[in-house]
Amino acid sequence: MPSLLEAFQSQVGRKILTGITGVLLVFFIIFHLAGNLAIFGDPDAMNSYSYFLHQFGPLLWIARIGLLLIFVIHAWIGISIWLKKRKARPVDYKVYSSKGGPSKQSLSSRSMAFTGVVLLIFVVFHINTFALGDMGDAMLADGTVVHDVKTLVIDTFQNPLYAFGYTFVMILLGAHLGHGIWSAFTSLTLRSKKASAVIYSIGVIAAIFIAVGFLVIPLYIYFGGGCDAALIHCN
Ligand code: HEM
Repeated sequence: MPSLLEAFQSQVGRKILTGITGVLLVFFIIFHLAGNLAIFGDPDAMNSYSYFLHQFGPLLWIARIGLLLIFVIHAWIGISIWLKKRKARPVDYKVYSSKGGPSKQSLSSRSMAFTGVVLLIFVVFHINTFALGDMGDAMLADGTVVHDVKTLVIDTFQNPLYAFGYTFVMILLGAHLGHGIWSAFTSLTLRSKKASAVIYSIGVIAAIFIAVGFLVIPLYIYFGGGCDAALIHCN
């Protein structure tokens, strides 16, 4: 069994590590999307979800730091693989075969390093805006006083820079996942040519759902949704 350091040093080990960290991030993203879609539900749903997270106390911060570390490891190894590939194949090409079967070359695959770096910067900025943002208190229907994360989100997306900036980054997230989900399967499993095509399609469909699920939030809010409940000045 190779050590983590050995895994970091070998090309195959690095691919497996990007695959594992990528899958963990996809699980987080799906969980996070489900929590955020609460904005469309019961008026208390989003703040209740945030309250549920905050009940974990310091554990929430340990989980956030862990998540950030996973993001950084994923990006670090991803960029090093990309740099190595670039050095080995400086000439652009459309289709090539690799050991594991046919590779999927597309705009999404060629821009993985770019979309990945943008997403990493986005996450740091995003945690600063929302997890560390200035929040008031709100009262749930049962009288519990909680952080009013919902008003913070609605307030933030009144600003067109945030609303359209987020929309743009969510499109990049979709592009990253469109290739990334297939790539994680490639790194972690042995797959046949036929399974590869099916997994690629499933990955692209899942990526579209995730990106659209996220980007409807800033657009919905910017164009006036959710304002009555939050009783704040809206566009
Ligand atoms: C419209 C899109 C999004 C909205 C409205 C949103 C909203 C939020 C909110 C409100 C929090 C703070 C939760 C709390 O403290 O109660 C948060 C935290 C966080 N978000 Fe997002 N988010 C979005 C997209 C994303 C995306 C695409 C990613 C990753 C690529 C992401 C990663 C994180 C991370 C890592 C945290 C800190 C962990 C946590 O508190 O759950 N978010 N987000």
